[in-house]
Amino acid sequence: MAYIPALLIFVLCFLLSANANAQRNHSNVIHLGSSLSPAANRTSWLSPSGVFAFGFYQSRDGFAVGIWLINQTEKTIIWTANRDDPAVSSKATLDLTRDGQLLLRTNEQGREVPIADVTEPAASAAMLDSGNFVLYNKTSDVIWESFDFPTDTILGNQSLSAGNSLVSSVSQSVQTSGRFRLDMQDDGNLVAYPVNSSTAQYDAYWSTRTALTDDVQLTLNRSGLLFLQIGESGVHVLAKSSYSDKNNGIIIHRATLDVDGIFRLYSHHFGGNNNSSMLMEWSALPNQCQVNGFCGSNSYCSGMGNKAVCNCYPGFDFIDSSNKFLGCYRNFDDNACRRSKDPAMLYSVVPFENMWLGNYPYSVVQMIKKEDCRKSCLEDCNCGAVLYGDDDCTKYKLPLIYGRESENTSDTAFFKVIRENIIAAPPPVPLAPKVVTESKRGLILILAISFGFISSLCIIFAIYSFIRYRRQVFGYRRLSENANLGLTEEFTLRSFSYDELEKVTCGFKEELGRGPFGAVYKGTISGGNKAVAVKRLEKVVEEGQREFQAEMTAIARTHHRNLVRLLGFCIEGSRKLLVYEYMSNGSVADLLFKGEMRPSWRERVKIALDVARGILYLHEECEVRIIHCNIKPQNILVDETGTAKISDFGLAKLLLPNQSRATTGAEGTSEYSYWAPEQQKNALISEKADTYSFGIVLLEIVCCRSSIEVKAATADEIMLSSWVYQCFVTGKLDKLVEDENVDFVTLERMVKVGLWCIQEDPDLRPSMKNVILMLEGAMHIPVPASPVVSLL
Ligand SMILES: *[C@@H]1O[C@H](CO)[C@@H](O)[C@H](O)[C@H]1NC(C)=O
Ligand SMILES: *[C@@H]1O[C@H](CO)[C@@H](O)[C@H](O)[C@H]1NC(C)=O
Ligand SMILES: *[C@@H]1O[C@H](CO)[C@@H](O)[C@H](O)[C@H]1NC(C)=O
Ligand SMILES: *[C@@H]1O[C@H](CO)[C@@H](O)[C@H](O)[C@H]1NC(C)=O
Ligand SMILES: *[C@@H]1O[C@H](CO)[C@@H](O)[C@H](O)[C@H]1NC(C)=O
Ligand SMILES: *[C@@H]1O[C@H](CO)[C@@H](O)[C@H](O)[C@H]1NC(C)=O
Ligand SMILES: *[C@@H]1O[C@H](CO)[C@@H](O)[C@H](O)[C@H]1NC(C)=O
Ligand SMILES: *[C@@H]1O[C@H](CO)[C@@H](O)[C@H](O)[C@H]1NC(C)=O
Ligand SMILES: *[C@@H]1O[C@H](CO)[C@@H](O)[C@H](O)[C@H]1NC(C)=O
Ligand SMILES: *[C@@H]1O[C@H](CO)[C@@H](O)[C@H](O)[C@H]1NC(C)=O
Repeated sequence: MAYIPALLIFVLCFLLSANANAQRNHSNVIHLGSSLSPAANRTSWLSPSGVFAFGFYQSRDGFAVGIWLINQTEKTIIWTANRDDPAVSSKATLDLTRDGQLLLRTNEQGREVPIADVTEPAASAAMLDSGNFVLYNKTSDVIWESFDFPTDTILGNQSLSAGNSLVSSVSQSVQTSGRFRLDMQDDGNLVAYPVNSSTAQYDAYWSTRTALTDDVQLTLNRSGLLFLQIGESGVHVLAKSSYSDKNNGIIIHRATLDVDGIFRLYSHHFGGNNNSSMLMEWSALPNQCQVNGFCGSNSYCSGMGNKAVCNCYPGFDFIDSSNKFLGCYRNFDDNACRRSKDPAMLYSVVPFENMWLGNYPYSVVQMIKKEDCRKSCLEDCNCGAVLYGDDDCTKYKLPLIYGRESENTSDTAFFKVIRENIIAAPPPVPLAPKVVTESKRGLILILAISFGFISSLCIIFAIYSFIRYRRQVFGYRRLSENANLGLTEEFTLRSFSYDELEKVTCGFKEELGRGPFGAVYKGTISGGNKAVAVKRLEKVVEEGQREFQAEMTAIARTHHRNLVRLLGFCIEGSRKLLVYEYMSNGSVADLLFKGEMRPSWRERVKIALDVARGILYLHEECEVRIIHCNIKPQNILVDETGTAKISDFGLAKLLLPNQSRATTGAEGTSEYSYWAPEQQKNALISEKADTYSFGIVLLEIVCCRSSIEVKAATADEIMLSSWVYQCFVTGKLDKLVEDENVDFVTLERMVKVGLWCIQEDPDLRPSMKNVILMLEGAMHIPVPASPVVSLL
């Protein structure tokens, strides 16, 4: 019987130890009814190992709720809840309420802000050793975790899946959204951009260039390997921590998009006894000046490594000299240029060596002398600065963005400044004077207030123009596309000489077609590996060189996948030529009416949507609204991937007045059949004229036939629009299409949209935005009335 006490002791010990274990684990479970407050004894909940804390930390003029690493010389914040909300006061509380909500209660009128958006009530919460704060439901399944909502950092065992971003913080201590973002794009690329920029190639300043598949995510694993997980098995390693698991103590890895826009990998080593150390393991870029937007507009970046500084260009002053990242404004009156007959007299230029002005010039002229380059900027009111190097003259508008000092000593930048002897501008805003006599105080106060007002206007204007400028110039373009294209081809117009174009087209040998403007020839540039279409404008108004160039620049700014891109131009006296990208599959007219292999139903539906999107862009999305005035199948070209693109846009106003009523005659079809009634009557037209033309084209695409077919089987069928309407009201849409694989729901949609587009009253015709919604089936389409039948 002696073994009984032993057994008892054993059982007791077992229970005690189990109890101790449970106790320890228990202490890290956060129960319903728990709360934290900056003013209370408990301001945070720790993870079991004590490395991570979740709770209130001091931020700005109050407190924020987040997760941080403890015992760090510099507070290392990993995550912040609702980071862009205002800071809360010390009276705020964070409650895991009895009904299973995690709420931040601020003291102002008892406002309640949910920290975690949960669909079912939580049963408990925990701050895990991985740095993940989680909420559990009754069955201990995780129903919410902070790892799903990263701010600027990912930790070991955390991933950033496609479509998500990290956004840098304003500063080390203020975790609100800062100036940069890192996108895990769904095209497989991990790309860093300035936070509010487009995804245009030249806004990006760092990329993994992985563009492989859409199934990619960024992952940092527990042993500090930072990699892109591609599909099931592919791995693209970005960095590896040098700390290995055999080190003593706890190691935490984190990858952060830092305040300066650079993505870095860090390791933290916790040795106990308040001995912790941090190591920067990897940096995506070695130099802060490589970060686009590190300096604000009209300022440039200089310096190496992590010691970059921002300076204003000549002729500019800081918007706020206490925050040099905000950029600079021009310290003289810019408008004088446009008022002046001889702007070159007003300004001089200041040369600046070793400067790079960014990727967004508005004009590149090749083979030109330095002096002519300098002069061309002085005479051009749009020009804020030019860069001259290798006989290329590259002009930039304000605001100048992404500029930095460069090691390329062959380049010289010239900045326009006002001439000293001309007093055209108010003096720059003076700093507050140090000594103020009593009598002048009032006056100075008034001056200070007005200057304050003026400078805030300047800031607002600068920001507005910056945003506007960005919206104008940058089309939506993923980095992965055209990554191999050079700068001049991508975003600027190239100016060609006539001789050059003669060579490019082998003496205008191969004619591709003829339009109202003249003939189009095939050519090749870039040493014969890029096909282009050269359009010789013959019947255009004699405009000044500058107006023509302005027109071309406006066209060049349109960037849309459903518009044929203008690559360059040539003006020599009365000779005017335009160089476009070459469309290898010809026009939609060829495909629909001539081709032996007509496009399939699916291809036709895609062409119709492509055209609609191109027109929508012209009408609503580009800088200057453009009414095409001449939408017809001959003007819609198809590239090698089968994407339809609209051409000849923006040219309508260059046509001679009598020319604009000409017919092409090439196919024997009157151009009038695409014209809206108001256009035929030469009345005032709106965007709805293009809607009408689109309607006719749409019906042609649906039926694969021309809008007027004299040789039709029956008289009813001659006019396509009345024939379609007749089939529609009699419910015999199948008569319109010969194809086998027609989807009749889409067919009916397309027919109804087409009939709405060709209503006589322009107000009845839908906008292109609605046309697209209706074609996509996202918008109900009422039954259309009989359209006008134009018999011209
Ligand atoms: C408590 O945590 C330890 C490790 O931290 C684990 O081994 C043990 O199983 C846990 N106990 C319970 C009751 O969950
Ligand atoms: C803090 O703790 C002390 C002692 O444990 C207790 O008396 C006091 O009420 C607590 N204060 C608050 C605000 O909870
Ligand atoms: C631990 O180290 C941190 C940073 O060096 C310091 O702020 C903190 O006061 C230290 N804590 C103790 C208890 O020494
Ligand atoms: C807890 O969540 C899991 C996963 O969402 C779910 O399957 C389970 O039914 C939930 N349990 C309760 C008690 O709601
Ligand atoms: C890592 O994350 C996965 C899910 O993302 C989870 O199932 C696993 O438990 C985590 N591992 C650790 C050690 O936290
Ligand atoms: C980005 O845009 C948002 C919303 O327009 C604005 O609040 C924010 O200040 C902008 N950030 C920067 C760095 O310009
Ligand atoms: C991290 O990834 C590396 C390479 O795939 C692997 O060797 C290591 O075991 C991983 N570590 C963890 C904790 O998953
Ligand atoms: C933080 O510092 C305290 C006080 O020195 C120490 O007891 C604790 O172990 C440290 N925590 C970590 C995770 O290093
Ligand atoms: C602190 O830890 C580092 C390694 O991380 C070690 O080299 C150093 O000796 C430790 N210092 C103390 C006082 O323990
Ligand atoms: C310097 O010039 C070379 C050749 O023109 C170019 O490849 C390089 O990108 C330039 N470097 C910078 C920093 O602009």
